[in-house]
Amino acid sequence: MANITETTVSEKSDEMLFSKNLPDQESLSYHWMPFTMNRDFKQNPRLVVKADGMYYWSLQGKKILDGCAGLFTCNAGHNRKEIREAVSKQLADLDYSPHFNLGHPLSFQVAKKLCDFMPEDMNKVFFGCSGSEAIDTSMKLVSAYWLSRGEGRRRYFVSREHSYHGVNIGGTNLAGISRNRSAYNLEIPCVVHMRHTKLERNKFTPGIPLHGGEDLAEDLERFANLYGGENIAACYVEPVAGSIGCYVPPKGYLQRLREICDKYKILLVFDEVITGFGRTGSSFAVEKFGVKPDIVTLAKALTNGNIPMSAVLTRDFIYNSITNHCAAETVEFSHGYTFSAHPVALAAASATLDIYAKEGLFSRGKELEDYFAKKIFTLRKYKIVVDIRSLGFLAGIDLLPINGKPGLQGKRFNQRIFDLGLHLKITGDTMLIAPPLILEKKHIDELVEKLAESLQSYE
Ligand SMILES: Cc1ncc(COP(=O)(O)O)c(C=O)c1O
Repeated sequence: MANITETTVSEKSDEMLFSKNLPDQESLSYHWMPFTMNRDFKQNPRLVVKADGMYYWSLQGKKILDGCAGLFTCNAGHNRKEIREAVSKQLADLDYSPHFNLGHPLSFQVAKKLCDFMPEDMNKVFFGCSGSEAIDTSMKLVSAYWLSRGEGRRRYFVSREHSYHGVNIGGTNLAGISRNRSAYNLEIPCVVHMRHTKLERNKFTPGIPLHGGEDLAEDLERFANLYGGENIAACYVEPVAGSIGCYVPPKGYLQRLREICDKYKILLVFDEVITGFGRTGSSFAVEKFGVKPDIVTLAKALTNGNIPMSAVLTRDFIYNSITNHCAAETVEFSHGYTFSAHPVALAAASATLDIYAKEGLFSRGKELEDYFAKKIFTLRKYKIVVDIRSLGFLAGIDLLPINGKPGLQGKRFNQRIFDLGLHLKITGDTMLIAPPLILEKKHIDELVEKLAESLQSYE
């Protein structure tokens, strides 16, 4: 296990980080913050300046338990010496090299390490810098694949209500969150959405819910009937819908999607940007559910959140078809980013994957996930809690909306939990819990105590 040292930074340097005074309004006004109520936030900013192990520290020096691994990113905990050193060495050895017609040995090694977690015929990796880039890259791969097969008529992308696939144009269209789509006039045609998988009858189920899986998956069959299965390019799912609030797919759902995809030769894409790297209590959702997708997207915890990086993994037949379709001496896939396979990100990824392996962080589920779920589910006794779901080290707690208006309760809790020394992600009125995988029982206890305190005050 990791040696979690909660005070590794010297007290002297801490003093220089902390301050009693918040920055003034004028200085806060320049940064247009992402997915934030900017006007509201800047009236009462929540600022952090230090992180170590399972904790953040606020600007004022308050210790804050990280209940969300940053943003589902820091699965190996904060301030990992091994990653710091690998990044620093890489910067000194080779700070930047392009990957257009020039290579760096680490990219091939990291790609191989990722493929080792996947089904045996998934052996090709395309690197990017964010989950959003991974999703849009994967959509281009899907499209290029069907064109290479002479099946360009396959233009339908099937996604799901309440799903989140990042914020680039492709992912915004795939996503099933109306708020994220309706602010723009950038719709792409032929994207259709299956029903989401949160069912009333599965309320308060820890782990995989029993009801409705096969029925919900039939939406894909219905689209195949409606639009023609031969016109559908791909079906995109987060194996567990993450940022909307941990919607665990009911029993049989993913398996049935795979069967329908096979029937119509539709590509199945797993967006594992959140579910990857141990989050569900297994290495990846691919392993957890025993379902084989054709493409997998990864990001976030790939580098323990230390350097932006993402990856798209594909099965060999996709690469072979696109590549063989091209005349020799042409670029097979005209796509890539200046920072694709950045050497410093690769160094961070390589060190991160070593930590995951050395500390057995992907098998912590077997040790602790029951304890985690049991403790989180004790919170159902509060009237304000209207549903709880969990899988591995991911949980969602739905709160009763204030006067039926979504979001107000969540906003209130954002401040409340910060004041209590806890960091979570709150989406609408749902609190999302996804602690670093180095957690111990005492951290679960602390997390649940703080949550209980926050909920108690609203009874
Ligand atoms: C499932 C999923 N896909 C894609 C993304 C987008 O990743 P990024 O914010 O790195 O662009 C996210 C981000 O939360 C995600 O949860």
